[in-house]
Amino acid sequence: MQFRPVTVADLPALARVAEPLQRRPDRHVVYLADQADAIVAELEESTHHVASLVATIDGGQIAGWLIADVDEEMGRVWWLGPFVAAEEWEPTATELLRRCRDLLPPGVDQEEMAVDDRFVSCGPWADRMGFDTGAIGSWVLSLAGDVEVGASELQVRAARAPDSDSALVELHERLFPNTHTTGRQLIESSDESHIRLVTEEDGRLAGYIAVERQATGEGYVDYLGVAEPFRRRGLGRELVRAGVAAVRELGAADVHLTVREDSEGARVLYESLGFVAERLIRPYRIGFEIA
Ligand SMILES: CC(C)(COP(=O)(O)OP(=O)(O)OC[C@H]1O[C@@H](n2cnc3c(N)ncnc32)[C@H](O)[C@@H]1OP(=O)(O)O)[C@@H](O)C(=O)NCCC(=O)NCCS
Repeated sequence: MQFRPVTVADLPALARVAEPLQRRPDRHVVYLADQADAIVAELEESTHHVASLVATIDGGQIAGWLIADVDEEMGRVWWLGPFVAAEEWEPTATELLRRCRDLLPPGVDQEEMAVDDRFVSCGPWADRMGFDTGAIGSWVLSLAGDVEVGASELQVRAARAPDSDSALVELHERLFPNTHTTGRQLIESSDESHIRLVTEEDGRLAGYIAVERQATGEGYVDYLGVAEPFRRRGLGRELVRAGVAAVRELGAADVHLTVREDSEGARVLYESLGFVAERLIRPYRIGFEIA
């Protein structure tokens, strides 16, 4: 087997290898869609030029691939894959991960991969590769494009610069410590397809929602938070209505999100608006935990 770096010209062929695997729950890797063109769109946004390899066999046929999505500032990599074309998965997956790890930029010492809970053979392998396999899982919920969630009555505004929205920075970091986005990054990453809506009461921050229109054209609810004193008064549900309306205005129809296995309340909230549980995902991490 030979290994070579991934180039942008490889992406359509890599997506064709991944597509049938993504449709199998026992092979499904989280973070990527299950249609080739959507996979290409997501890979184009990843750092596929860093620590990412294609494995080939005689004649250049693709045997597997692994792409690293690296955030050097955070020192963290999200592994997109490994995808292995052959039924015997483990030897190629192991070789890809070992070699890609060796190519990570200095200082990147946190790793995450995540798979469908039904990809049962991945757990023992991840354990052997040094991952912590005991983390809490998350449900992927989706809202079909034709399901209406109703209009929101809530007054919302867009997030401002981090320094003038410090309460938002603090609330985000208190509710979601150590996730992929700090409070500052959350605000600084807002643009025409990444919307952050805030609601206030008497000048105090009460809650926020972060939504985006993804490269695939789908909507995604990235974060939803209501400050403790304002909970159980319907603000969370209203924020979801406002967020769904905002991404649908950007042309997204289907909307999805993830919710932790132990956040029963949030799951009930989303299901009450028509979201449906699709799959349970199992994260494997090294070097950090999400409490
Ligand atoms: C989840 C969260 C956003 C809910 O906000 P909220 O404003 O309290 O939610 P709402 O008042 O709109 O709740 C709507 C419904 O959801 C359900 N629900 C919400 N929180 C619940 C809880 N803690 N336990 C059980 N059910 C709950 C209830 O059915 C509730 O209706 P009810 O109050 O009439 O029984 C808030 O608890 C929070 O910020 N939690 C921490 C961060 C988090 O988990 N975010 C979601 C993950 S993306």
